[in-house]
Amino acid sequence: MSPFLLTRTLSDDSVDTALRADVRTGLTAVPKELPPRWFYDARGSALFDEITRLPEYYPTRAEREILIGRAARIAAVSGARTLVELGSGSSDKTRHLLDALTGLHTYVPVDVSESALRGAAGPLLAARPGLQVHALIADFTALTELPASPGPRLLAFLGGTIGNLLPAERARFLRSVRALLDPGDTLLLGTDLVKDERTLVRAYDDAAGVTAEFNKNVLQVLARELGADADPADFDHVALWDREHEWIEMRLRARTALTVKIPELGLAVPFEAGEEVRTEVSAKFRREGVRRELEDAGWEPVEWWTDSAGRFALSLARAVERPAP
Ligand code: AVJ
Repeated sequence: MSPFLLTRTLSDDSVDTALRADVRTGLTAVPKELPPRWFYDARGSALFDEITRLPEYYPTRAEREILIGRAARIAAVSGARTLVELGSGSSDKTRHLLDALTGLHTYVPVDVSESALRGAAGPLLAARPGLQVHALIADFTALTELPASPGPRLLAFLGGTIGNLLPAERARFLRSVRALLDPGDTLLLGTDLVKDERTLVRAYDDAAGVTAEFNKNVLQVLARELGADADPADFDHVALWDREHEWIEMRLRARTALTVKIPELGLAVPFEAGEEVRTEVSAKFRREGVRRELEDAGWEPVEWWTDSAGRFALSLARAVERPAP
């Protein structure tokens, strides 16, 4: 068997249908919103990669520090023969896990971006000859089955991406991934932590303007895929801290009153001057909250680690025998 397999659980058609539904629903809603998933075309994925190297964007470095320090323990606790990684992107940080997981048979990177999955595969296979890589093009919130591979499985969801989900969506998500696994399998979850507002806002509004470009990239996706005539120059990038919900929001704010025509949807979307579209929620967590959410979804927390500066956490949890209904 070839060491690299790629399965498309999403047809181009279903992606197109989902985009259309999200854009129609989101841009006719009050207030307007678009799901963050649509940031990640090839350009958006490359911009996100650039974000992870910005001085202000600490989560990637903080998580890497934890992974390097704890990879051996993660390998020992999980005993993983299969590593499933949701939202794997460039699989950059995964290297630290792969190096420690000496008994690993199969790596299953899961991402909506085919370009990211293909780009990651080459270096991975070079670093780990003999490893089976079975990439899945899939939306991590809609995964219903995993490729056949030996257990135990370790499912990694890194980067703090779980923060893109609202609380009710997170509860559903954590239960659905529990249902994909067997008792004794493990979950490695990265969560960005609540901290001072200035540090948080800067991480989402960097001086070089890369995050602004990333945010506005969704307008280019709408232009290419749906013929939308939104001009990125007509919108400002906004990042704000919602202290009540303890999440960062990214928004695009119309600089003037304008109308965005979306011919493929037969839709004209009016904006008042200053009107905003919410494009991302990035929730920040506390230890007790993570513990509660894990337990409620059928996971028994085993380890909690933060980086030395206490900015970011990795949780290791074990799938319990019978999750409560
Ligand atoms: C990839 C979802 C973890 O929320 O920090 C980075 C995306 N958005 N800068 C995050 C993001 C703006 C990122 N995640």
